[in-house]
This record gives sequence, C-alpha cells and structure tokens, in this order.
Amino acid sequence: MKKIAVFSTKSYDRTFLDEANTPPRYQLDYFETRLRPETLKLVEGYDGVSCFVNDKVDQSVLEALLAEGVGIIALRCAGFNNVDLETAQRLGIQVARVPNYSPESVAEHAVAMMLTLNRKITKAYNRVKEHNFDLEGLMGFNLSQATVGIIGTGKIGLATLRALKGFGCELLCHDPYPSDAGRALGEYVPLDELYRRSDVISLHCPLTEESYHLINQQSLAKMKPGVMIINTSRGALVNAQDALDGMKQGRIGYLGLDVYELEGDLFFRDLSDQVMHDDVFALLLSYPNVLVTGHQGYFTREALTEIAQTTLANLDAHFAGDKTGNELF
Ligand code: NAI
Repeated sequence: MKKIAVFSTKSYDRTFLDEANTPPRYQLDYFETRLRPETLKLVEGYDGVSCFVNDKVDQSVLEALLAEGVGIIALRCAGFNNVDLETAQRLGIQVARVPNYSPESVAEHAVAMMLTLNRKITKAYNRVKEHNFDLEGLMGFNLSQATVGIIGTGKIGLATLRALKGFGCELLCHDPYPSDAGRALGEYVPLDELYRRSDVISLHCPLTEESYHLINQQSLAKMKPGVMIINTSRGALVNAQDALDGMKQGRIGYLGLDVYELEGDLFFRDLSDQVMHDDVFALLLSYPNVLVTGHQGYFTREALTEIAQTTLANLDAHFAGDKTGNELF
C-alpha cells in the first residue's frame, strides 16, 4: 500500500479523507504541522505528500522530496502559488490540485461578508445580546442599488456574479480573459473603470506576479471614497499596510478579508492565549468596519467532500500512470 504524508491536517480533513479512502487503498499518515524546510524529516519513506494552502513547497523542499522518492504532491486546494512549479517540473515531481470544488462555497462566503459588513450584523448581534435594541450606527445600504465589481471571472467569480444577480445589483467585471458566461451576468470594463464605478469590489483572481498587491495606495486612490473591498482569494492581492492607511483616511469604508498576506503564521490555529505580533493585522482587527475570517471560504461539507475525493482520485491517477487533468504540468 502506498504511503502518503498528509500535511496541515485538522480533524475535519482526516474525517473526509478517511471517508474517501474507504476501503483503504493508501496509508494516509496525518500531520498537523505544515510542510516546510524544518519539517522535511517527516517525509522519510513516503511515496507522496498532500499539502494545503500554507505549506511551503519551495526548491529546497522539492529537492528533499525527490531525494526521499516522493513522486507526487497532491494539493488539497485550488491555488498553487505556494509551490515552485518550475522546479517541481524540472525534478519530475507531479503536482496535482483540486481545481473545482464547489465554487459556490467561496462565493457564498464573499456575499456573506458583503451583507455582514453592510448591515453591521456583528455589531447588531453583540448589542442585542446585551439587550441593547438601539439602531443608531447600524444603517446600511441596499445591495440592490449598488454597483459591484468582480475582479476575476473564473469559477468563483462567476458563482459570485450568479449569487449577486439575485440581489439586482449592477455588476461590473474585469478579467484578462473575458468569458461569455461572464458577459451574460455583468459588463466587462477596464480595471480603472471598475475601480471608479464600484461601491463594492470583490477579488476572485489568483495570486500572480501581475496581481500581487493589486489593491494598493494607487488603486485605492481610483476608487469611490467609502468603497467596500472583499478579498476571499489570496492575501497578497491586498497590500495590508495600504489597506490600513485607506481605512484610516476613510477611502475604504468596509474591508472583508478571508485571507491575509501573512496568514501562514496565524490562520487555522487557536492563538487566543498569545500576543499578536503583527501590528498591521492587529490594527486592522480593531476597526469596527473590518471583518476578518480565517480562510474559511472553502469550508463547507460539500467542498470538503469534493476536496477529499479529488485528492484521492489525483493520487490514483498518478500511481496508475494516468492523468485526471488536475495536474499542473
Ligand atoms: P479560476 O482559475 O477558475 O479563475 C480565476 C480567474 O481569474 C480566471 O478567469 C483568470 O483569467 C482571472 N485572472 C487571472 N489573473 C487576473 C488578473 N490579474 N486580474 C483579473 N483576473 C485575473 O479560479 P477560481 O476557482 O475562481 O479561484 C479564484 C481564486 O480563489 C483562487 O486562485 C484561489 O486563490 C482563491 N480561493 C480561495 C478559497 C478560500 O477558501 N478563500 C478557496 C478556493 C480558492
């Protein structure tokens, strides 16, 4: 039986992976820790590894994996910006991902963030818990009358557009590769026009060299004062310091982050008894009009089932000398 070292796992990952591995065809050994240079010793004797968003699969890690005879990295996520693909290909280590798991899971979370920020649900929840039924400070705006700009109209961007269509908002899109499906839902416009016209901007593009720090001082200056920005994609799409400055200046009216540039040291863990060392993040958290969730956009039953099944299917194909189409080269 092939042995797979499964990194960055929580109890829920194990539940869904064990279910997908029934009857067992792999020995899945679960590690809570991330795969990174310091934890490489754990991969001794494994045929494959499975990683998640914050595992650091750089050149040194890949070379060590090769030396151990690891032939496949089965990513349990869609994004792959944490893997040095060029080196993996050069070394002949296959990398496969789960490109298509319930895009609605992330889209619905993005919409939940828009509504929560707009209607100040967290504030209202806390007030009512204390029997304070005052409405002062809770006023929102009609999403039906707002213009929402979607950057990146792939699977998740389209699912977000479909969900927002129901609210009746005006929908703007930007993507270097416009699609008919996107055109049927919204109007493709140049990025600067999207910035100028949108009341809400939601990011659904991958993290690449071009999209790194897409939201920065310069782009913020082009947006409507008081704009709402939602990022459920990858943290480094937003320059956090510039976002903080934008909040202070009132350029950003609402900020919803499910991802954060330096989340690797924070997310998926209980740090409630520790001091927060990231000052920018701590300040962002202190703002009442900032809503942060810990990379949970994907976190639905349906998505976890799909992730586990596709991960195992990717392993099956690799060890059978086959392809699923989820391979990255
Ligand atoms: P996708 O590959 O279907 O779509 C991405 C779209 O972005 C494509 O249409 C592409 O042409 C476009 N794009 C690329 N560069 C762009 C740029 N510079 N500006 C505008 N558009 C650009 O990907 P999918 O499945 O929709 O996922 C989008 C992102 O969502 C992923 O890259 C991942 O980072 C993130 N994600 C977040 C999750 C979470 O739990 N918060 C879970 C899953 C994905």
